[in-house]
Amino acid sequence: MPLLPSLRTLLPNTPIWDAGELASRDPGFDARNFGASALVRPADTASVSTLVTFCAERGIALVPQGGRTGLAGGAATSPGQIICDLGGLAKIEEIDPFARVAIVQAGVTLGALQEACALHGLDPGIDLAARGSATIGGMVSTNAGGIMAFRNGTMRQRVLGLEAVLPDGRVFSDLTRVLKTSAGYDLKHLFIGAEGTLGIVTRLALRLDPVAGASATALVGVPDAASAQRIVRHFLGQTSTRLAAAEILWRNFASLMQRGLGYAPGQLPLDAPCLLLLGLGADTMEAARAALEDGLAAIWEEAGVIDGLVASSEAQAAALWRLREETEQIERAHPMAPSFDVSVPGGGLDAYVARIEAGLKTLDATYAPYVYGHLADGNLHISINCAGPVPHDRHEAIEDVLYDGLREAGGSFSAEHGVGLEKREAYERHADPVKRDLARMIKGLIDPGNVMNPGKVVKM
Ligand code: LAC
Ligand code: ZN
Repeated sequence: MPLLPSLRTLLPNTPIWDAGELASRDPGFDARNFGASALVRPADTASVSTLVTFCAERGIALVPQGGRTGLAGGAATSPGQIICDLGGLAKIEEIDPFARVAIVQAGVTLGALQEACALHGLDPGIDLAARGSATIGGMVSTNAGGIMAFRNGTMRQRVLGLEAVLPDGRVFSDLTRVLKTSAGYDLKHLFIGAEGTLGIVTRLALRLDPVAGASATALVGVPDAASAQRIVRHFLGQTSTRLAAAEILWRNFASLMQRGLGYAPGQLPLDAPCLLLLGLGADTMEAARAALEDGLAAIWEEAGVIDGLVASSEAQAAALWRLREETEQIERAHPMAPSFDVSVPGGGLDAYVARIEAGLKTLDATYAPYVYGHLADGNLHISINCAGPVPHDRHEAIEDVLYDGLREAGGSFSAEHGVGLEKREAYERHADPVKRDLARMIKGLIDPGNVMNPGKVVKM
């Protein structure tokens, strides 16, 4: 019996698209997302298990997909593969406002969970620009971090319990909803950041945090990242307020965004080498704005602040955030620009940026990277100002400039977007060899048939 009719018989009420239907739909961020032979959208864990068993028996590769806005090619597919679309598992099953726990299915978007939690004065404690599309399952699978990781941890620290369908169809069920469990190996962590290579994450128990009453926004022009870090330390030291965001934009990036968004020059403190976007939470908006103004005034001279403004309305705050978040401006100016996602430890940001700017210039005198990111945890996003893809050798040379010395310094060549296909070669060249051996052993043990998102992360 041909594949699709068998699948339709097996999962009669489940949407199934063939390659033709896939070709006519929007694949999301990566054109390869819909390169598979079929897409199946199960609505519960049992159906995922049925699909997985079907594929395992036939040696068919399965690629789980969430919001399809991942940036590392973790959801890319090719002919012969089947997509397991988690969009059918989109229920928020429970929010327990007293225990501050949410039980959610993997296909719930971050935005939907944020809205549901807000009704209880709570928040998932994690936020990122792609909140409208990113699913909790996808975020768990890449160990997403985003804007508030410096305060609340990455996705790994938000997950209390997890359910996943293993490559042989069995369900790994560890949906604990307590923080403390020291009952042997904490295997749920294997699935966090595994990008679907060890199984398909289907349900999660997540911890929630209370939200501040209001959050005020400021944009500050500073000479360098060290100055911005001084400001951040100042606000982190306050106990009456809560620093909720500290995003940094280097001049090249800020100028591109300003032009792309059509903001008037002079409207923002843009004539500074770096911009710092701050979010500060307090009980009321008045208190938050006053604390931002007072805090900035107190640190102004010591930090060498060049210019700054505190948003006086929600609309102005939103305009400032667009300057940081609407990063599709890069794609518009330089289609498929080579882009990177690194973690740089501690106080090394200015030296790192100076080093890569100089190193990139030696490859091509026209290279002037766009650099921005999450200042408080050292996670920088870097895009090269050229259209991509660049030839393989050139890509490798750029990676060497960006990644050399990072691991030795205690940083990471892959901070929050995952490895997927895009960083698989970098993983081979820049990740610890013993770690890679262990990862291959674990993959071989759990997925001996290599049917779960094969070719991603680990090379088998
Ligand atoms: C951001 C995404 C690219 O921080 O991680 O905008
Ligand atoms: Zn980011």
